Amino acid sequence: MSTIEDIDLQPEWGLSEFNPWDRRITNQNIWPIYRAMRDEGPVVRSEALGGFWCITRYQEVRAAALDYKTFSSRNALEIGKQNWSDRPKTRLIETDPPEHTRIRKAMQAPILQKRMSEFSDGIRESVTELLEEIEGKKEFDIVTDLAEPIPQDVVGRILGFDPETRRRNRELVLKFVHADLEHSETTHADFWAFLIETIQDRLRHPGNDFLSQLCHSEVDGKRFTESELVGMLHGFALAGHHTAIDGISSMLRYLADENVKKAYLADPAIGSQIVEETLRCDPPIHLEGRSTNVDTIIGGVEIPAGESVTLLYASANHDDRQFENPDQFDIGRGPVQHLAFGYGIHMCIGLHLARLEMNTVLAEVMRWFPNYRLVGEPEHSGMVFGHHMGWDSMPASIA
Ligand code: HEM
Repeated sequence: MSTIEDIDLQPEWGLSEFNPWDRRITNQNIWPIYRAMRDEGPVVRSEALGGFWCITRYQEVRAAALDYKTFSSRNALEIGKQNWSDRPKTRLIETDPPEHTRIRKAMQAPILQKRMSEFSDGIRESVTELLEEIEGKKEFDIVTDLAEPIPQDVVGRILGFDPETRRRNRELVLKFVHADLEHSETTHADFWAFLIETIQDRLRHPGNDFLSQLCHSEVDGKRFTESELVGMLHGFALAGHHTAIDGISSMLRYLADENVKKAYLADPAIGSQIVEETLRCDPPIHLEGRSTNVDTIIGGVEIPAGESVTLLYASANHDDRQFENPDQFDIGRGPVQHLAFGYGIHMCIGLHLARLEMNTVLAEVMRWFPNYRLVGEPEHSGMVFGHHMGWDSMPASIA
């Protein structure tokens, strides 16, 4: 198990060598590093990974996220000079308008806020099934037994998969995300082949489900290509996977505190504040990449065109220029505009779904196991794929 004692990153490390791929970063040690970066300035240059710029403070991160003309998303998943650029960019998160507008319109249709009531029973059913299994165990792992199966089950329901296809989708995604380097290519290829097979099936035999609609729909007079459709399904499956698992796990970690539980039991309406404060304090996505289309100036620092930039959403959420006592989990904080879901045209399309998943888990766990508590130390994941942060394991007892 990794512990804080393993870690020897000093705040100064962030000022010129910040490397989001460094697995020594954890959600325990990163906050003083981000603070040092913010205090240095709204933009800090890192020489890691061939060099890139970090936007550190809340106002500047928000402004850059809004300014998609200056900050392109074509390299959103690439930082510095990491060269993945020959990959076809069909994932929404890696596109710019007008392509982005077209794909986003189609993808977000089933998960708009007004449609969430269609999924609340299904999500409750998924969560209840897991809690029923946990009930027989007495001790369980919040990450692997509860949080991990939820996102794929929910995405499968949205796409209109039958229970067997949902199970297969979940199995393939879990194999892929847990694969070591040696198996990562084959497990990814298996998942990709499953997506193509599922799309081709819907193209030949359209049903009444969202995936069939997506396969046969036209936006601005154009049908989606097979690679665009695969990119969309890939986005649904993966963008909402670790993010939701980490969000749910961090939330149950905060909720295990007796004072937070007491406050919730006295007034369950504060459930959504617990969710939002978790996302502000422990955002599952720490950063996203951009590249500059033109020369630009932020806080007096000139960033030339063609440079790699990261928006440090997590640092922004802990900026004391924006939030009082930012490192403190405070459910009395009231409504805040945190940046855990990003901002601007790429703001998370799954945010209503993620909130519904987290609120449902919170309410159901408190209904089933109000005396649950953590046993032992949670095992943190470190920074994964250079941008998300969460937990590998969080042992708990139901009483
Ligand atoms: C707690 C859970 C979640 C968090 C914290 C989260 C966070 C984010 C963030 C920060 C972005 C912005 C990326 C950027 O600025 O480049 C984003 C985009 C996105 N998210 Fe989420 N997400 C969550 C759950 C989900 C779910 C459940 C889904 C889908 C089922 C999803 C699908 C997407 C997609 C497709 C994008 C790309 C949007 C675009 O580029 O227009 N996310 N998410």
